[in-house]
Order: sequence, then structure tokens, then C-alpha cells
Amino acid sequence: MNAATPPNTKLQTLSREERAARLAEVATCVAGCTRCEELASTRTQTVFGVGDPAARIMFIGEAPGADEDRQGEPFVGKAGQLLDRIIQACGFQREDIYICNILRCRPPGNRNPTPVEAANCREWLDQQIATVDPEYIVCWGSVAAQNLLGVTTPIGRMRGTFQEFGRAKVLCTYHPSYLLRNPGAKKFVWDDMKQLLREMGLEPESTSK
Ligand code: URA
Repeated sequence: MNAATPPNTKLQTLSREERAARLAEVATCVAGCTRCEELASTRTQTVFGVGDPAARIMFIGEAPGADEDRQGEPFVGKAGQLLDRIIQACGFQREDIYICNILRCRPPGNRNPTPVEAANCREWLDQQIATVDPEYIVCWGSVAAQNLLGVTTPIGRMRGTFQEFGRAKVLCTYHPSYLLRNPGAKKFVWDDMKQLLREMGLEPESTSK
């Protein structure tokens, strides 16, 4: 995997409305994208991203699943419901965060994205990052972390410390789907979230999650 190059960001030069307009333009291009022949022919629709176009935090997941493919929004299935509980536990609303994925189309059978698919979709992700220009990025799971940062380090070794991507501080942690299968790992994610909140100058509301 090649080292990922952060997009150039022009700090704070765009208003929220300008960012929303730019994201809408990119979403229109994405809706017509056929770079991945298999994904373009099997998707119900593309799943671009949702949330505050000027968010301090961006969440990056892996790829849409069946629920997301049906509804056109990232993280709306079972993993998304757990993600919503994590967001609430942090004292945020879903709307405060910008949420997207490495891929904008559902891989059939929810298989992992191929390196070619991730590379095809990278332009869209980079444009989302450059436009939102978040201070913090949370990569949910190894597919997000390894693809964003261009590394092969296991997620268990990446979590717990901040990485850098352009001006953004990047926290990598376990994917909510992994937590659904391995509830014992929730405590590690909560530790990671508390670390994020402290870094942002915010107080975790509770230490008992
Ligand atoms: N898992 C992801 O990584 N992204 C989604 O949007 C849904 C499930």
C-alpha cells in the first residue's frame, strides 16, 4: 500500500454554506461514478456522507452495508445504531459530526473493499476531507485506518495514539461491527473516545461506558 498523501486544505477559508455546496457538487459526481464496474452495477445508490460540512470531527468507516445501500446514508444499520450510542456517550449529536466511508458503494455480500476499489474512491474521500477540513478524524476499523494512512499496521497497534493526516489528528479504533461481535472490546473504544475528548479540550461526561 502506498503512503497516503493528505489533501491540501485552506484553513477556515470556506463558510459552512460554501462547504455544503462543494460537497453537494462532489456528491453529484459520485452518484454517476462507474469506476468500479461491479459496485456500480450492484449498488442501489451511492452513499456519500452526512453531517456538518464544517465539523470538527470526521468519522470514516469502511463501506456501506445493505441498510446504507437501501437508505443512502452511512452507518444506519446495527453498527450505526451502536455508533449513535457512542456519539451520545461522548456528548455529541450525530449532526455535529461528518460521517463517510472509504467506499461510497456497497461491496456485494459486504466483502472487504479491494485495494483497487479503495484507490478508485480515494479522490472522493480526499475531496470530502479537504472540504470539511476536520481537526480530528476517527477511523473506525482497520480498513478505514489502513487505507486512510497508507499503512498495514494492525488496528490493535494503532489505537490509543494519535496519528497525523494533513492538519487532522487521527484516532484509529475498533469498528462498531467488531464491537457487536466482541462486546469486551467496548472498553478500549471508550478509552479511545475519552482520549479524543480530552485532546479536544472536552470533558468525558461519564467514565462508566
Ligand atoms: N459499516 C461501515 O463501515 N460503514 C457504514 O456506513 C456502515 C457500516
